[in-house]
Formats: sequence, C-alpha cells, structure tokens
Amino acid sequence: MTLFSQFPQKRMRRLRRDDFSRRLVREHHLQASDLIYPVFVLEGGNQQEKVASMPGIIRQSLDLLFFQAEQCLQLGIPALAIFPVIDASRKNLTADEAFNPDGLVPRVVTALKQRFPELGIITDVALDPYTSHGQDGLIDEHGYVLNDETVHVLEQQALVHAQAGADIVAPSDMMDGRVGAIRAMLDQHQFIHTRILAYSAKYASSFYGPFRDAVGSSATLGTGNKYTYQMDPANSDEALHEVALDIQEGADMFMVKPGMPYLDIVRRIKQEFGVPTFVYQVSGEYAMLKAAANNGWLDEKACVLEALLSFKRAGADAILTYFALEAATWLQQK
Ligand code: PBG
Repeated sequence: MTLFSQFPQKRMRRLRRDDFSRRLVREHHLQASDLIYPVFVLEGGNQQEKVASMPGIIRQSLDLLFFQAEQCLQLGIPALAIFPVIDASRKNLTADEAFNPDGLVPRVVTALKQRFPELGIITDVALDPYTSHGQDGLIDEHGYVLNDETVHVLEQQALVHAQAGADIVAPSDMMDGRVGAIRAMLDQHQFIHTRILAYSAKYASSFYGPFRDAVGSSATLGTGNKYTYQMDPANSDEALHEVALDIQEGADMFMVKPGMPYLDIVRRIKQEFGVPTFVYQVSGEYAMLKAAANNGWLDEKACVLEALLSFKRAGADAILTYFALEAATWLQQK
C-alpha cells in the first residue's frame, strides 16, 4: 500500500474541528431582521382566544396586539403581518367589508402606525375573511371564483389599506393581473411608496388548515377547495412564470408559500431572478413542530432555528413565521 492511499487527500473535517473555524466558514446566518411576525386580530377590547391547532398563538384585540408590536420592535423584528378575524355577520357574497375604510384592518393599521411608526405593517389582500363562502374571490352561480371581478375588489381593498397607512400590501389571492391593477390603483392615488409583496407562488396546500381555523374560514369554506386559483403542488416551472409576471406588473417582493416543503421553489426563484424572495412558514408547519416539541419528541429551539436557517440557505431574504418572537428571543440569547 502506498502512503498516498493511506490518507484522505482532503480532510473536510479540519474546518469542523473547532467552534472558531466552524464560525469562520459558516455560509448563512439567521437574524431577527429576517423575520416577519403574522398576527390574528379580533374586534373589541381585552379580547383573547387560543387557536387550538396552533399552541402558543392567540387571536387578540388591538389593545393586546400593542404588546406584541412592542416586543417585535424590542427584538429587532422589522414587520408585522396582520390577519383579521371577521364576524360572520359582516361576511357576504360581495365581500363588502374587505374595502370598508372603517373596517377592522384599516383601524388596526392606523392605530399601530400611530403608536409604532417605525414598525413595518403588512396587510393581506384577499377576500377569504370577508366572503360568506370562504373563497379568496367572488364566485359565479357554479361556485367558480371570478378573476376580473375579484381584481376590482382587491384594488379597492389595497387602496383602503394604503390609505390607513399600510407600508406593504400583500395580495395572497392568486388572481391573474392583480399586482398590476393594485399598482395602478395605488399610483393613481399617489401611494407611490406603498410596497407590494406578491404571493406569487402560493400553492393549494393542505398545510393551511390551522390558519383557516384561526381566522374562521374553515367553517365557511366547508368542503370547498382552492384548486382553480392556487398552484398545483406538482409544479415548479409554473412558479417561475408567476414570478416573471409579477415582476412585470410591478411587485417589489415575492412570496413562496408554504415554506419547508417548497424550498426548491425558493431556490429556483432566487437563482433565476435575484429578486427579494420571501417565504411563509405556514400554520401547518408551525403546528407540526409545536406538536412534536410539546410531546418531547423534538428539541424545539434547535429544530425551529434549523428550519428557519434552511430558508436562508435556500435563498430567502425574509421569513414569515409564527415562531418570530420565540426565534428572535433565542437568537438574542446565543
Ligand atoms: C388566504 C390565506 C391563507 C393563509 C394566509 N392567507 C390560507 C388560504 O389560502 O386558505 C395561510 C397561512 C398559514 O397557513 O399560515 N388568503
């Protein structure tokens, strides 16, 4: 045997041997500034309800939301994403409450911006909290979600959010042409600085279940599904096509949703376009990790931070996560 074959030619373990050199060659980092915290907001005062399928997450009224907003600022989390819980009596076929300037979302946005001007506020542009059937758009007599009619409502909704002071409007509805229509509407009303975060690659995923419980749209949606507008989980080229259109239509940031089962999509979008690419670690992902952690089956902190880092490695610039407060706290402790 020659000396040459006795030793590996290259020892990859050399750099892994000590903490100092592991740190020096670390390629990706997770920081509080990568995180966005999604919150569920209720009408009223001093109201708080647990979400059964999302242990640790509550729906809360504005006065209680102030505490979480303040925590975000203290922890260095740049932005909050607001999801409203709308009373059933305010839902109808035409989703009128979606563009009511005195509705829950505009009131919450204005109050948050007044109190915490430096905290970024993101609003969801989609009709599912407001329709009596739980679909993201208006439907015809066969239950088919109408594209262009829906886009007209979304424009109004986005304008109302911008007028209330939203920094970023985030269409998550998957209608065709909505980004361009919203951009035109905002520009016409001089909201040239309001950013658009397009949910460009939003899949028809079963991992949204706990969210639909949280906002109460699972009851309205019933056995309905969103296959005629959200993307087929089997597709990946189609996500690039969606992003290309949203770039053309004037979106500023691009979302992939869900997260961990779609890391390949994050990577392809970042690689192909080099645009600000966000990812949503959705309610079902949160529920899985929490359930395992609460049963003592996984080390919560280690697994959550590993999952979040995987988004960075895949190419994400920012991560919407229900773990934002916990993760930012753990990162401070490190
Ligand atoms: C709907 C919307 C959904 C989520 C955010 N906005 C669910 C859906 O499409 O039914 C899901 C988020 C999550 O699961 O955490 N516009």
